[in-house]
Amino acid sequence: MTTNRPIVAAQRTRNVKYAIRDIVVLADEIKQQGREVLHLNIGDPIKFDFATPDHLIEAIHQGMLEGDTGYGPSHGRAEAVAAITAEAKRKGFEQINQVCVTTGASEGIELALTALVNPGENVLLPTPGYPLYSAVLSKLQAEANPYYLDEANGWQPDVADIEAKINDKTRALVVINPNNPTGSLSSRETLQQIVELARQHNLVIFADEIYDKILFDGATHVPLATLAQDHPCITFNGLSKSYLGPGLRCGWSILTGDKEHCADFTDAFMKMARARLCSNSPTQWAIKPALEGDQSHLEDMINRLTVRRDLVVDRLNAMPGFSCVKPTGAFYVFPTIAANASDWDFGLGLLREHGVVTVPGTGFGQREGTKHLRIVLLPPEPILEKAMDLIEKFAR
Ligand SMILES: Cc1ncc(COP(=O)(O)O)c(C=O)c1O
Repeated sequence: MTTNRPIVAAQRTRNVKYAIRDIVVLADEIKQQGREVLHLNIGDPIKFDFATPDHLIEAIHQGMLEGDTGYGPSHGRAEAVAAITAEAKRKGFEQINQVCVTTGASEGIELALTALVNPGENVLLPTPGYPLYSAVLSKLQAEANPYYLDEANGWQPDVADIEAKINDKTRALVVINPNNPTGSLSSRETLQQIVELARQHNLVIFADEIYDKILFDGATHVPLATLAQDHPCITFNGLSKSYLGPGLRCGWSILTGDKEHCADFTDAFMKMARARLCSNSPTQWAIKPALEGDQSHLEDMINRLTVRRDLVVDRLNAMPGFSCVKPTGAFYVFPTIAANASDWDFGLGLLREHGVVTVPGTGFGQREGTKHLRIVLLPPEPILEKAMDLIEKFAR
């Protein structure tokens, strides 16, 4: 007997949202009508005038020519793990329990949350912040516990808010530094206060440092694990942003802290890592040359992004009712917008009327009553100028 009853998706997928890609569906429809679309929505440098450095491509090519297309160790190729460990030590990490190469930082984030959080427990997430964490928590039937970044204080994490949000079901605290979507860099003092709270409440620190080398105005990044040497901390990084290779899907997790205190979590993390076999073998060949080879692409990228950041920030701040904190890192701005309707209506209207794709602030979480857009700083100046003209026109 056959039946045509609809195949109902699992409940756990109902709350999964990922606005960065969801808005692309409408953008594609508009493009199919033959209209011009300006993409200011996706944090992929390769879509613009940036390219993966040649020495990374050559290393991956070499790996494939040498036949490294089989499964590798679950935690990664020895040479890649050694390069990640050596860089972590150069940065001052003292108690490294485990390094694991993953399919982008994303996979490490998913493995870590899966290894740690039970249904009904919660994780403190920066708001606004990158939406992968809440998507994975939905899947695990666990709770996102949002804490605010303070726009009036350059989007620094609001430590008092973090403290107020901790409860007996809180297991971990995520810090994205520099942050996506605000481009803010957390100060050493703020990070120290966060570590103190994590210690008091036995929370695992998730340090998402995927933008740690994309810094403006000579700013310096403080790796969170170095302020919490004996405390359970997991640092995420990879080739997607600083090494201009998001499609390589190559990231890593570094698990640090007192070995015994962390042992059960470290074991569970690696059990999950073994269950997915390994990450891409050939792309791991790029890790050592990335971390130890020529870094000149970074200076070039930062120089170009600084010009684009200044252009966008100046234009936005000159628009009536708009205001924009100048980012210190990453490649996004998150301005407050002047809109009578919601940020979604503004974002969708801007796309429908003028073909400018941005991501509405609710896609990242924002304080009740505030309205933002995330704008990517990666496009060349003429595109940014044109997009700013259109945003200004639409806002009027
Ligand atoms: C804060 C943050 N973490 C993680 C990721 C995902 O990185 P990957 O491409 O290494 O999976 C992104 C991608 O935009 C991000 O912005």
